[in-house]
Amino acid sequence: MHPSAAKFLLLIVAAASSFLSVASHGLPPRQLKRNASCLPHERDALLAFKENITSDPEGILSSWRRGRKDCCRWMGVTCSNQTGHVLELDLSQRNLAGQISPSLLSLEHLEHLDLGGTYLSGHDGRFPEFLCSFKNLGYLDLSELSFASRLPAQLGNLSTLEYLDLHNAYSLPSEVPPQLGNLSNLRHLDLAYNYLYTTDISWLVRLHQLEYLDMAGINLSTIDNWLHVVNMIPSLKSLSLSNCSLPRANQSLTHINLTKLETLELSTNYFGHPIASSWFWNITSIQFLELSSTYLYGPFPDALGRMTSLSFLGFQENGNSATMAVDLKNLCELETLLLDGSLSSGNITEFIEKLPQCSSRKLGYLSLNDNNMTGIMPQVMGHLTSLTALSLSNNSISGSISPGLQNFTSLEELSLSSNHLSGQIPLLPRGLEILDVSMNFLSGHFHFGAPYIGVLILSSNKITGPIPEKFCELQYLRDLDLSNNSFAGELPVCFSMPYLHSLLLSNNEFSGKFPSLIKRLSNLTLLDLSWNKFYGTLPIWIGDLAELRFLDLSHNMLHGSIPANITHLRRLQLLNLSFNNISGSIPQSLSKLMAMTKTHMPGPITNLPDYWNTDWINYGFLDILSAVTKHQHHKYGVRSIFYIVDIDLSVNHLTGGIPDEMASLDGLRYLNLSRNCLRGNIPENIGAMELVESVDFSWNSLSGEIPASLSDLTFLSVLDLSYNNLSGRIPSGRQLETVYDNNPTMYDGNNNLCGPPLQRNCSSGNSDPKHGNEKASGENSESLFFYIGLVSGFAVGLWGCCVLYSSRSHEELFLSSSIFIVV
Ligand SMILES: *[C@@H]1O[C@H](CO)[C@@H](O)[C@H](O)[C@H]1NC(C)=O
Ligand SMILES: *[C@@H]1O[C@H](CO)[C@@H](O)[C@H](O)[C@H]1NC(C)=O
Ligand SMILES: *[C@@H]1O[C@H](CO)[C@@H](O)[C@H](O)[C@H]1NC(C)=O
Ligand SMILES: *[C@@H]1O[C@H](CO)[C@@H](O)[C@H](O)[C@H]1NC(C)=O
Ligand SMILES: *[C@@H]1O[C@H](CO)[C@@H](O)[C@H](O)[C@H]1NC(C)=O
Ligand SMILES: *[C@@H]1O[C@H](CO)[C@@H](O)[C@H](O)[C@H]1NC(C)=O
Ligand SMILES: *[C@@H]1O[C@H](CO)[C@@H](O)[C@H](O)[C@H]1NC(C)=O
Ligand SMILES: *[C@@H]1O[C@H](CO)[C@@H](O)[C@H](O)[C@H]1NC(C)=O
Ligand SMILES: *[C@@H]1O[C@H](CO)[C@@H](O)[C@H](O)[C@H]1NC(C)=O
Ligand SMILES: *[C@@H]1O[C@H](CO)[C@@H](O)[C@H](O)[C@H]1NC(C)=O
Ligand SMILES: *[C@@H]1O[C@H](CO)[C@@H](O)[C@H](O)[C@H]1NC(C)=O
Ligand SMILES: *[C@@H]1O[C@H](CO)[C@@H](O)[C@H](O)[C@H]1NC(C)=O
Repeated sequence: MHPSAAKFLLLIVAAASSFLSVASHGLPPRQLKRNASCLPHERDALLAFKENITSDPEGILSSWRRGRKDCCRWMGVTCSNQTGHVLELDLSQRNLAGQISPSLLSLEHLEHLDLGGTYLSGHDGRFPEFLCSFKNLGYLDLSELSFASRLPAQLGNLSTLEYLDLHNAYSLPSEVPPQLGNLSNLRHLDLAYNYLYTTDISWLVRLHQLEYLDMAGINLSTIDNWLHVVNMIPSLKSLSLSNCSLPRANQSLTHINLTKLETLELSTNYFGHPIASSWFWNITSIQFLELSSTYLYGPFPDALGRMTSLSFLGFQENGNSATMAVDLKNLCELETLLLDGSLSSGNITEFIEKLPQCSSRKLGYLSLNDNNMTGIMPQVMGHLTSLTALSLSNNSISGSISPGLQNFTSLEELSLSSNHLSGQIPLLPRGLEILDVSMNFLSGHFHFGAPYIGVLILSSNKITGPIPEKFCELQYLRDLDLSNNSFAGELPVCFSMPYLHSLLLSNNEFSGKFPSLIKRLSNLTLLDLSWNKFYGTLPIWIGDLAELRFLDLSHNMLHGSIPANITHLRRLQLLNLSFNNISGSIPQSLSKLMAMTKTHMPGPITNLPDYWNTDWINYGFLDILSAVTKHQHHKYGVRSIFYIVDIDLSVNHLTGGIPDEMASLDGLRYLNLSRNCLRGNIPENIGAMELVESVDFSWNSLSGEIPASLSDLTFLSVLDLSYNNLSGRIPSGRQLETVYDNNPTMYDGNNNLCGPPLQRNCSSGNSDPKHGNEKASGENSESLFFYIGLVSGFAVGLWGCCVLYSSRSHEELFLSSSIFIVV
């Protein structure tokens, strides 16, 4: 050891030992403290309390045993060092259920009782009123219990109480007892989110020590003087009256007494008056100000620029009628600024310039989504490099993304979607985890250079080029959406991407054989390769992607047969192979697609990452997948996508019959097998597909009669059987009649069909099959000619009964003539 280091160490040891000796001499009653143990009658009271606990799965009370006499050492129990009396009982946030035993009353010296977050309650689920008899109680937390009784007036007897937390503790409506005004020592009162109501809060003014008041969620709609009442509690540091249906406050306060206020939450109350006429702008002590969903409007006052203590300003969802031109340069404490869905105008260039410019950079979270901001994205934003999250989605911001983005070394989340941004995406900061720049006019190549990125959404831009090998370094990637761009070439073959969950590449110029990269993506849930130029056969290993729920390979040039292994995908709820060159027969093992059966119907994805449930990613995932249903082009959004149960194999060269097993997919909502070469009968048991809403078998060579069970399908709204060789009497049924009324061509091109709703009578004319066939083929070719005319511009040919479509055109018939529905 270096001599001076040894010296230093010695010094520390010396100092420590002298401190210890002073400590032991300075505090003589140390011995006494050690061995004051609990009093027998208090121990018995605790054991009686334990007897009424019906459930303790974590074994919290396992130390509470008669054999372990010193109850002061039991879990959750704290005693006085001097007297041994139990002073504190804290069992909060434990998984305890049962009744709170009145035996606790024997703990006469109890000062602190915390049962918050447990499943305990009083007798019959009532409030344990005996608790109101404690003489020394200073702290009572019964939050998140679930009492089914009135809040007792006796609470006002707890004259020593300083802290009372009853938030979210009531399951029945109850009036707030005005006797709470007797709790003259109260500093903290939390009654938020209960079924409480009151018509009078004047008792609050007797709480002269009150620093924290939370009455969020309590209906105060009749209390016109609420502002005058709270203004008479000058001790207040934190006030939350969110979601209280507050009446428009009378703004004419002559004097503001709330000079100590640090937190003010008034969100979700309809005020609907100008922002500037609010009463709180002169309170410069405010640090946290939450005004979301208050519908305040007009310009922010200059006083905001003088609120130098402010660290949080929430002003979201206020109906796009506010403006912000205040100079915020001096708000050096500002950490979070949320103005989403509130500004009616604004110039982003000027806005950014007015943000804090302080030596200590604190602004971490800036969110301006859904505003009407225009202007050019500033190229230099040196004063904002402390940001961890920046969100400017759904505005009209133009220009290019600052090349200085790399200097934002703390940035983790960046969302710029739905703007008019152009130019190339610059190099990203290394720490970035979420990037959403979808729906802009960004172009050029993209550098896949943010190694920790988990969510990468570039969809609906004009980004070009191949995906470089560097892409494989993105080992944390979870969701990748490159759809609607001009990416081209083959996907790199990465060793693994363990977390990749959704891979959305639709509508690009990707080519090559079915990407072998996908083989290693064992957690893949969504795969959309539609509208590209992938060719070759579908690999057998596709059946190994055990988590796959949505598979859209439509509009490519895939050929070969459908591998039977695809039916191993027990979670698959969307199978879209339409518009390819797929041949062979439909696998019979389809009934193994359990997610398409009623008993195993898909629910929402449970391992959904948090950002899917927040508004953070506003637009990227809204158009997650598309599927042609009910003759319309549906776009599925984040929430509705989970309820898709679809099979679309249309426009291929499938041969053979429709397997009877298909009917066991009784959770299926949409089935399209049209424009293939399918023969044989429609499965007799098709009526078992109870939930099916749309069935399209048109343009095949199906024969035989239409099964009567079709008329059992009560949800059916679209049925197309046109251009087959079906024969015999059309089954009757109210549902089928309605479906026919909506689409009277649904039986066209089947000249041996007869009976209502067709004019053709079953007894006459129909007995001559030759005649019927001739007529059928005539009609067939006529309509086909018509169809070819419509889809001119890409190759259409005839192959036996099948129509051969090229899948390579983005201006394809369905797309151009259909309606996009964003759900
Ligand atoms: C604590 O224990 C010591 C012996 O270990 C004894 O001398 C002392 O009297 C005890 N104090 C109390 C308060 O019981
Ligand atoms: C509570 O415990 C007492 C005995 O200490 C017992 O008589 C009573 O039935 C228990 N109540 C419930 C609800 O378990
Ligand atoms: C009792 O003494 C221990 C140290 O022995 C100390 O940590 C604790 O705070 C004391 N408790 C009270 C209530 O004074
Ligand atoms: C408790 O309060 C009630 C009503 O507020 C009152 O009638 C009763 O006398 C009080 N009890 C005690 C023990 O102070
Ligand atoms: C408690 O409050 C009630 C009504 O608010 C009042 O009538 C009563 O005198 C108060 N009791 C005490 C002990 O202050
Ligand atoms: C608070 O301000 C009001 C004026 O709005 C005044 O009448 C009242 O005396 C003040 N109250 C306290 C407790 O300071
Ligand atoms: C706030 O301050 C401004 C100027 O500093 C003053 O004109 C106004 O009356 C004050 N408002 C209140 C409610 O105190
Ligand atoms: C502002 O944006 C909102 C939401 O995007 C829109 O409804 C509103 O019409 C826009 N207002 C103006 C003046 O552009
Ligand atoms: C936004 O502000 C900048 C700087 O003041 C200005 O050059 C630009 O023209 C403004 N843009 C719009 C759309 O008002
Ligand atoms: C990024 O930071 C470096 C060093 O701090 C600086 O020289 C450069 O100008 C910055 N780039 C931009 C575009 O702000
Ligand atoms: C799949 O995801 C889960 C959690 O979502 C993760 O624990 C697991 O490691 C992933 N599987 C692979 C092969 O990485
Ligand atoms: C495909 O399924 C068959 C059984 O149906 C199985 O033997 C074979 O190993 C599977 N192949 C792959 C690549 O999963």
